[in-house]
Amino acid sequence: MFGLYQLLFLPLLAHSVASRFVPRQWDQWGQWDQGGQWDQSGQWNQGGQWDQSGQWNQGGQGTQGSQGTGQACNNSPTLCSKTYDQISHLGAHNSPFLRDASTGFSSSGNQFYNTTVQLDSGVRLLSAQMHEHEGEQHLCHTSCSLMDAGRLRDWLSEIKEWMDKNPNDVVTIILVNSDEASPEVLDAEFKEAKLDTYAYKPTDPVVPPSPWPSLQTLINAKTRLLVFVTSLGDSGVTTAPYLMQEFNFIFETPFEVVKPEEFTCAPHRPSQLQNKASDALSSGRLSFVNHFLGTEGGLGIVSPNVEKIKTTNSPGDEEGALGSFVKKCRKEYWNRGPTFVLVDFFDQGPAIKTIDELNGVTEVVGRKPVPDSNSEALQMDGRPPRDTGRMFRGLSDLLEVVKSGTTPSLGNWIWVGGDWGSLVGGGVAVG
Ligand SMILES: *[C@@H]1O[C@H](CO)[C@@H](O)[C@H](O)[C@H]1NC(C)=O
Repeated sequence: MFGLYQLLFLPLLAHSVASRFVPRQWDQWGQWDQGGQWDQSGQWNQGGQWDQSGQWNQGGQGTQGSQGTGQACNNSPTLCSKTYDQISHLGAHNSPFLRDASTGFSSSGNQFYNTTVQLDSGVRLLSAQMHEHEGEQHLCHTSCSLMDAGRLRDWLSEIKEWMDKNPNDVVTIILVNSDEASPEVLDAEFKEAKLDTYAYKPTDPVVPPSPWPSLQTLINAKTRLLVFVTSLGDSGVTTAPYLMQEFNFIFETPFEVVKPEEFTCAPHRPSQLQNKASDALSSGRLSFVNHFLGTEGGLGIVSPNVEKIKTTNSPGDEEGALGSFVKKCRKEYWNRGPTFVLVDFFDQGPAIKTIDELNGVTEVVGRKPVPDSNSEALQMDGRPPRDTGRMFRGLSDLLEVVKSGTTPSLGNWIWVGGDWGSLVGGGVAVG
């Protein structure tokens, strides 16, 4: 069953990726900056331009914005005075897990573009899973034999470098602490990358601040990085107070969604607030909606649903679209937020359009289009991913776990995919 499923599904998937994604929403690569807005047809209507030296003109940075409204915060001058919770932040699900040349176009990837590009293009919430691997903290997708995106400290350094260059931006990180690393171990990774120097410390480790600081306040205080971790032990009270226990500050909607009609704004975690939106909001927690779709294969194994990504990330009103979903959530959340919106393949949709609409942003400053260089990833043309060796090891590991009777880790939900059909057909016995 399992082998057949994968065998049938993969060529379809590759075809769909190739045929649907190549024509881009973004036109006019070199002419996109402040003063632009989304036009009726969903195309970005350009404003800024590349300067003589080949550098992108950031518009508003350190100078006047295009309409005299002053410096931009998170790509818009209108957001500076808003509090952190009042705006919506676009999140890239599994930011470091890429389907690009660096991973041999792995089908375990949730994003086509790396973290630097994500930030350049308007993503302000980065998420990742951590695992312990040979005594080090690595960013691994479910298992380090399946996908290992390297050391946590190196990814944090990439973020530090971007933040150094973009002093007017507030960035959020959510880490899934899969192997329960201690706060001391985590703190050491941040210190190694010197990223702790940008971190915000909450007034209380257990109770969300009220009110949250504005973006401008965070920027002025040089505490424009917010770090949430799931989890930091029972209480979340630790020796590194900038590491915030996610569910003390945030409530999340379900993430195990495989049918568009199953997207819901109802809180799922923390468990004591499940389906209690009103209690969750009264507690001061920030709203966090997951809007990515999986497709279920054998053994409870789920892959990102790229077939439906155009709809899933669409700013429109159709069922399963990001646009209609966030509007529904905003109503259910007392006309606020959602504060965080997490998506797969963030550049599709484009998801940022929905976020700009939520934020009432029409004047975008200093945002860059995604580069065209990764379009190879979108033109696989039926070629299988080049990661079969890794996929095989990952599959073997997972099968061992399943056979041992243990439910696979990470909320029983494994986001994997790959050319397993041919592997299985090639003599590997499963199930
Ligand atoms: C991120 O991707 C861009 C373009 O795809 C590339 O130029 C850049 O070197 C990458 N950065 C890192 C840190 O991998």
